[in-house]
Parts: sequence; C-alpha cells; structure tokens
Amino acid sequence: MSSQKLAPPRGTHDLFGDEERCHSYIIQTAKKLAANYQFLPLETPIFEKSEVFLRTLGEASDIVNKEMYTFEDKGGESLTLRPEGTAPVVRAVISHGWAREAPLKFFYAGPMFRYERPQKGRLRQFHQFGVELIGGAEVLAEVEVISLAYQILQTLSAQNINLEINSLGDKESRIKYKEALIKHFEKCPLSENSKRRLQTNPLRILDSKDEQDLPYIQEAPQINNYLNESSKKLFENICSELSRLNWKYQINPRLVRGLDYYSHCVFEFTSQDLGAQNAVLSGGRYDHLVHQMGGPNLPGMGFAAGVERLALLLKVKPTLHPIVSLIPIGKEAEKKAFSLAIEWRQKGYSIDLAFSGNLSKRMKKAHKAKASYALIMGEEEMKSSTFQLKNLQTGEQKKLSAKETENFLKVFFSGP
Ligand code: HAM
Repeated sequence: MSSQKLAPPRGTHDLFGDEERCHSYIIQTAKKLAANYQFLPLETPIFEKSEVFLRTLGEASDIVNKEMYTFEDKGGESLTLRPEGTAPVVRAVISHGWAREAPLKFFYAGPMFRYERPQKGRLRQFHQFGVELIGGAEVLAEVEVISLAYQILQTLSAQNINLEINSLGDKESRIKYKEALIKHFEKCPLSENSKRRLQTNPLRILDSKDEQDLPYIQEAPQINNYLNESSKKLFENICSELSRLNWKYQINPRLVRGLDYYSHCVFEFTSQDLGAQNAVLSGGRYDHLVHQMGGPNLPGMGFAAGVERLALLLKVKPTLHPIVSLIPIGKEAEKKAFSLAIEWRQKGYSIDLAFSGNLSKRMKKAHKAKASYALIMGEEEMKSSTFQLKNLQTGEQKKLSAKETENFLKVFFSGP
C-alpha cells in the first residue's frame, strides 16, 4: 500500500512526540486540579448503545442528525462511538444506582467522535476532558464548576481566554422565547439550514455563522427578556457570586449551545486566537437529563474542554523529563551497559540506550532523544571502572568513578 493510502482517516491524527506530551500534560494538569475539587476519575466505554445519545442530545441537534458514528455490531445491536461525555456519565450513574449517594462528582478524559467537516481545531476524533457534578445545589454547583474551569485554564497559562455566560431559563421561559424567535425569524429570508431549524429548534439559529442569517440574528429577541422571575433570580445570583470571586465574564444573550439537554446557566470559554472554532471549554446545567434517562430527579452541571484546541493555545510547551544516555563502545561495554540500564531504570532513572552503532551514531541518537547528559563507557573506562560524563548542552566532559556516577544520577534525577 502507498504511504498516502495509509494516512489516518480524515479528521483523525496520530499523537506522538511534542504533541503527545502536550496532550498528556493538559489532561494530567486538569485531572490533578479536578481531584483537588473532589471530582473523581470515571472511565466510560468508548461506545454506548445508540439510544444513550439519541434520546438525550436532541433529535434536532447537529450531533444526532448528522455527526454520529453509529453502527450495528455482529449481534445486531445499534452502537455509537461517543460524541460527548455527559450522557455516558449519566448512564453510568443510573446503571450503577449511584444516584442515592448524590452529590456525585466525576472527571473524565478521552477520545470523542463526531463526523464533522475537519478544519483547524475541528476533528472527527478529538479529545476532551470534562467534569460532571450531579445532584449539586444551584449556584454553588455553577460556581464550583466554573472556578475549576478557570483554574485549569490559568494553570495551563492558556492565552487570551474569555468567559461568556448566558441563561436559557427553565422550560416555561424557553417555550415563551421560542415562540418569540419563531415569530421574528418567520419573516426573514434565512439560509436553508436555518429555515430547517426554524421548524425543529429555533434557538440553534442564533448559533448560525452563515452571512445570510447574521443581520436577522442581530435583530432577534434576546432571551433575558423572556426569563421568568425564578430563572432571572437564579442567573443573577450566579453572576454576583462569580463577580464576588473576581472571575471575569461577559453575558452573551446569544449563547445557546448545540445540545438539547441544557437549561438555565450555559457558558463557554472562547479565545480569539483560535479562528472560527473558538470555544475551548464549554458546559452548563442539565436539570432534566438524569430523569429523562430513567433516573431520579437530579440536576446536573458540568463542562468539557477540547484538548486539541487547548494545545493550540499553550505558549509554554511542557518540558521533557530528564534523560541520561548510556553510550557503550565495544561488546564488553555493551553487555555491562545493558545490565546497568536495567538496574538504573528500576531505581526510577530515565536511561536512553542505543542498541547499535559507533560512538558518533550513538551520540547523535542521544541528542535526538533530548538527553541532558551522556555516560560514555569505552575500553579505558571499562578497565578502570569509570565513566566519561558529557554535558550534551555545553559539550563539557569529565571522568567519574563508579561511585561518583551513582551519586551524580541520584542528584540529577531527584530534580531541582
Ligand atoms: P461541546 O461544546 O459539544 O460540549 O464540546 C466541548 C468542547 O469540546 C468544545 O468547547 C470544544 O473545545 C471541543 N470540541 C467539540 N467538538 C470538537 C471537534 N469536532 N474537534 C475538536 N474539538 C471539539 C459537550 O461535549 C458537553 N458534553 C459539555 C458538557 C459537559 N456540558 C455539561 N457537561
């Protein structure tokens, strides 16, 4: 097969080297901070029964309509590669009967699948990390989840980030708002896509990026004028708590989100550095999802972040963990190096050892492995049980006894 034929499928990529390091660093950072907030790791399967998504994300949503990777397995069951993590977490809560122990707090990370048109920051297999707080009290849940999101982004030093929030109100408020939107948009010459949405989910028209729709979206009624008293009060309380904690935000009355399970507070962290796909971390409240999926009446609140998009924003790339290269010359030295490498790796030291090649080839390999030092074992060193320690940045070299080498490794790998 030609190399072109063996390229990964469109919208997917192989993660390796710097990119892989960046992804792991993002996920580890998020996981660690989430653990400080007592969000515990939960790993759900990569595929679920299709109804987990069909019944929850919204029949009229883009995901259900055209983006799901759905297939029948050999037993004739319809399965779907997960397009998002919230419905699977709720499915797990219900199937294990965990609801009794609410409030529940979960952290998850892994690949998600959506058949979208690939572009910068938009893939068909992408990675998310996210949290779900199920059964948490209003306002406190919003503040906790948004504070965690802010702290993760700050710890990652993600640049030029803005928090946009909105309230979709309760069901009653949304029904009134939908009526007003239909009345407004009915008169407008909308794009074909938006015309279709007018029948199925008029709120989603507000999300349209089509030039033809933009002027009519500008003139559209805003949801804040349709919120009933209790929805308005809840949103005001969330905003004032966020202000009290000095978390900056902008209210965006046109923020509606693409999934149907949301009510009340929704939010998105966006960055102008990302171009069209500018949302890095998004989420909101879902008060009816647990009940709708067959569980008790428990509210939920959470977010998910796109790891590929976050990686584009990181200015400081994670550094490699320290490496020392062991460079034997000759058969005897090779044998000794092999057992030394095993012994030192067991002690927790990261040792690079090339399998073959002369001195210059092995030195090149040490540089490529981004090792900080090389320990050279030539004939002379073998005889005197010594090592030549070479600093690969400065080129400085000195002779060390076996004991001095052990001490050097101990200090070097104990970190700063
Ligand atoms: P979402 O907005 O669909 O929400 O996705 C969350 C994040 O995943 C987005 O902000 C974006 O960074 C990233 N993302 C989405 N689609 C793609 C793609 N095709 N390529 C690359 N990155 C992408 C959810 O998934 C909800 N489950 C979030 C949530 C959790 N709400 C409550 N709890």
